Amino acid sequence: MLELKKLSVNYGKIEALREISLEVKEGEMVSLIGANGAGKTTLLRTISGLEKPRSGAIFYRGEEITALPSDRRVRLGIAQVPEGRGLFGVLSVEDNLLLGAYTRRDREIAADLEEVYRRFPILREKRRDYAGTLSGGQQQMVAVGRALMSRPRLLLLDEPSMGLAPVVVEEIFDAIIRLRESGTTIFLVEQNAHLALSHSDRTYVLENGRIVREGPSAELLDDESIKEAYLGD
Ligand SMILES: Nc1ncnc2c1ncn2[C@@H]1O[C@H](COP(=O)(O)OP(=O)(O)O)[C@@H](O)[C@H]1O
Ligand SMILES: [Mg+2]
Repeated sequence: MLELKKLSVNYGKIEALREISLEVKEGEMVSLIGANGAGKTTLLRTISGLEKPRSGAIFYRGEEITALPSDRRVRLGIAQVPEGRGLFGVLSVEDNLLLGAYTRRDREIAADLEEVYRRFPILREKRRDYAGTLSGGQQQMVAVGRALMSRPRLLLLDEPSMGLAPVVVEEIFDAIIRLRESGTTIFLVEQNAHLALSHSDRTYVLENGRIVREGPSAELLDDESIKEAYLGD
């Protein structure tokens, strides 16, 4: 579904990503782990078209999208839940959700909004509230719901666990797993390696802008060097 070929991204002289090659197959849940500053957010932003690669190529469902503007990518089914959620705090929950449908012109937006409320019942209760007044977990639900409003085939999640209490993280991950079960392909970026490895099929490890390891998540979870570097045991 998604294939990156030798993708490099620079910020001025900083080489944020160096020749990244990776693949996410349809229906998979793939994670990318790495320390703060490794380049995880840059990679997701490049897939979404928000950063421009210096070299390399991005293929999505068999077509090259490397130079496509980000709104076109959204229309093709790529949605991103950004780091820090990126909500508009003084807009209502519902208005934030509807922003996710901005590329759509069909008549099923109301039905999809209903579907988001079915998935996250608390958001229906709070739909008239300012998004900024919600708890961190509820805001993350709004961010996921907003991405769902574009009807993604491929959902990119940037550190959905960040700043959330463990019980809330479980709730968010349950929702992500249900999405995956309903057919959405998921590419998950996490600094919390244990969380990512225990919920995904395959994992890539990013260090200083390079992929240094990849494999089935269950294998990496058991790997001594991964344990030492990323799992704190
Ligand atoms: N807009 C930017 N301008 C300049 N440097 C940036 C910018 N965004 C990120 N960087 C740098 O690129 C590297 C990777 O950052 P980032 O992708 O945010 O990593 P991560 O998400 O893994 O923490 C870091 O060294 C960071 O300082
Ligand atoms: Mg980041």
